[in-house]
Amino acid sequence: MRRCRDWRQWAIAGRVNRNVTMATDVISDLTAREILDSRGDPTIEVTVLTEGGETGVASVPSGASTGIHEAYELRDGDKSRYDGKGVLKAVNHVNHDLKQVLRGTSVTDQSRVDTIMIDVDGTANKRNLGANAILGVSLAVARAGAVVAGLPLYRYLQQAFDLKREAASLPVPLMNVLNGGAHADNNLDVQEFMVVPEFKRGQGVDMAESIRVGAEVFHALGRVLKTNHLDTDVGNEGGYAPDVPSSKETIELLLEAIKQAGYEPGHEVHLALDLAASEFYRQGRYHFEGQVLSASELVELYASWLTTYPLILLEDGLAQDDWEGWAGLMRKLGSKALLVGDDLFVTSSQRLQLGFEFKAANAILIKPNQVGTLKETIETVQLAQQHGYQTIVSHRSGETMDNFIADLAVAVGAPYIKSGPTSRGERVTKYNRLMEIAAELAAGK
Ligand code: PGA
Ligand code: ZN
Repeated sequence: MRRCRDWRQWAIAGRVNRNVTMATDVISDLTAREILDSRGDPTIEVTVLTEGGETGVASVPSGASTGIHEAYELRDGDKSRYDGKGVLKAVNHVNHDLKQVLRGTSVTDQSRVDTIMIDVDGTANKRNLGANAILGVSLAVARAGAVVAGLPLYRYLQQAFDLKREAASLPVPLMNVLNGGAHADNNLDVQEFMVVPEFKRGQGVDMAESIRVGAEVFHALGRVLKTNHLDTDVGNEGGYAPDVPSSKETIELLLEAIKQAGYEPGHEVHLALDLAASEFYRQGRYHFEGQVLSASELVELYASWLTTYPLILLEDGLAQDDWEGWAGLMRKLGSKALLVGDDLFVTSSQRLQLGFEFKAANAILIKPNQVGTLKETIETVQLAQQHGYQTIVSHRSGETMDNFIADLAVAVGAPYIKSGPTSRGERVTKYNRLMEIAAELAAGK
């Protein structure tokens, strides 16, 4: 439904504005439905309708290498539907419980909407209503709020959360061009091999150029894999997923692709890895590429990679509760690379506070569905920024066509965004939105 201010349009739309003094920006209806994500698993889509007839729609992604401290993703557990993965309970919570408590609240009062949902759920991890139900509403309300305010979503988020307008900036893309770990049926223990194309325009990022170069490297990698008789099928996030004997050999393939695309590794294009180390951590040891290693031995291995390769970022290099290990990783490599906590922090300000105490990392991944509301997501970003941590706004391995994270990354001025390679609609829609925002910012909006 479009904004219609003219009374004739109201009449055409068949709406009767009985009470002209009634606030038009309050929630009149909330509806959720079950849709499919990029893996073909159910997820939730929420539509919010205001009294004035504006709408906001949002959908929620889902992880595979999910951290154990994440907010609770409510699934039906009914094995007769979608192998137990249905989300009809979450849909029901939106259509009944949340609709009941939120009707009459303004869509432009995002903090209030989120606080009401947190209170109604009443648990620390949103176990009652489900973080998927709550986040769907939170994002849909923000979209409706932006429509009511007549602002692009990134500007609206800045207004709603008192973020500085000049803090808006374009993020450098971290493009996961080769998938392993829990995201692919290959033998690689490293979950994500990312290329980082960083092109500048003045002080900021040249979004279109960075994305173009990422796309060229991705295609070049396809050719390099074929030449080496390796598979070019793709994994969960759209990156190639061949069987390569080791991560070092995989990195060499990436370097070759960067060169074949006409760029210089370590100059125009860097590399980043998501180890997702919780996935190969068992009983105090890291089972990595045929070896059984202690945290400090694994850190030594990373240190050797950092001296050999143009790596600028290591995500989840150690397991989600190995705080001492992380502190050692920071002491050894904190000045050489971004050490990013994903499963470690789960976008939680409490976990991040622990990170400060342990001096565990210098960057945090930001995934709204790990915590469950926009309000808490942005509070965590602000806490990270106050402590000098870098922020990386991120998609999930199971995604939808919702590109909210593009606007979120720009609104909070995150230096990086992670949205897979330039392959698969649910990944590129975020990059396409970033190019659209870049054009708007260049036009002074
Ligand atoms: P997930 O993976 O969405 O499967 O958790 C993404 C990541 O680990 O960054
Ligand atoms: Zn991760």
